[in-house]
Amino acid sequence: MVNHVDANRANWDERADIHIEDATGFYGVQRFLDGEDALTPIDAAAIGDVAGLKVLHLQCHIGLDTLCLARRGAIVTGLDFSPAALGHARQLATRSGLEARFVQGDLYDAPELVGGGFDLVYTTWGTITWLPDVFRWGAVVASVLRPGGRLYFADCHPGFAVLEEIGGRLEPTFGFRTHSSVPLEFSETQTYTGDPRPLSNPLSFEWIHPVSDILMALIGQGMAIDRISEHEALPWRMVPMMVEGEDRMWRLPAGMPALPLSLSVEAVKSV
Ligand SMILES: C[S@@+](CC[C@H](N)C(=O)[O-])C[C@H]1O[C@@H](n2cnc3c(N)ncnc32)[C@H](O)[C@@H]1O
Repeated sequence: MVNHVDANRANWDERADIHIEDATGFYGVQRFLDGEDALTPIDAAAIGDVAGLKVLHLQCHIGLDTLCLARRGAIVTGLDFSPAALGHARQLATRSGLEARFVQGDLYDAPELVGGGFDLVYTTWGTITWLPDVFRWGAVVASVLRPGGRLYFADCHPGFAVLEEIGGRLEPTFGFRTHSSVPLEFSETQTYTGDPRPLSNPLSFEWIHPVSDILMALIGQGMAIDRISEHEALPWRMVPMMVEGEDRMWRLPAGMPALPLSLSVEAVKSV
């Protein structure tokens, strides 16, 4: 039987190698090295001043956002289960002259791997969809934060994740809550950056978690929800009909009814 975590890691290792080359400019690696900020406008507007904060970036991938937080003066740790992604993240830190600690491991092992006492947990864009149990995610977030510490989370809206574009229309295709032991199985021959190179590990497994589960996973751990926002944009082209804006965010085309494509949540751990 396929091990979902192993399959996903092999898939992410391969994607990371393509993403760091950044042939299509999707990740803006050279722009980042030239000094441009890699955070989306949604995140940049939300996070406020992070200078001096001890920040844990969960699922940090090739470290671009981690290093943009370091550039803002944060003391950053990035965690990811992909050794390839972290190899690239460490090289990017060296190339950019920014300081960051990168730790390899499964998200669920974060408390043992990185300890606690963080002022901010930052996790965005392609996160809990890779995790079978969002309640365990909430427990991890709460356990690594200091009392009074804050979570910033932003990702695809679960209400949009259930849709697929079929024949030019958005059709409900997936159930709104994926059972932890029965993930959605995908086989994508290319990564989402537009790079045409074929993936030799195309298989991946994902889970859709409803908004109520995301919020209750945090509330159940004594986290107070400070802010929840819905946005009409995503940083990637989730369905072919989406159109890229000058801010590098993707939106539904003109004429479509407005839909929430993404969601951000800020929560504080009770003192
Ligand atoms: C879409 S990327 C996140 C990108 C992120 N927004 C960034 O800052 O670049 C998803 C990341 O989650 C990681 N990942 C997936 N499942 C994981 C798990 N169980 N534990 C730790 N990392 C995981 C992958 O290796 C990948 O780097």
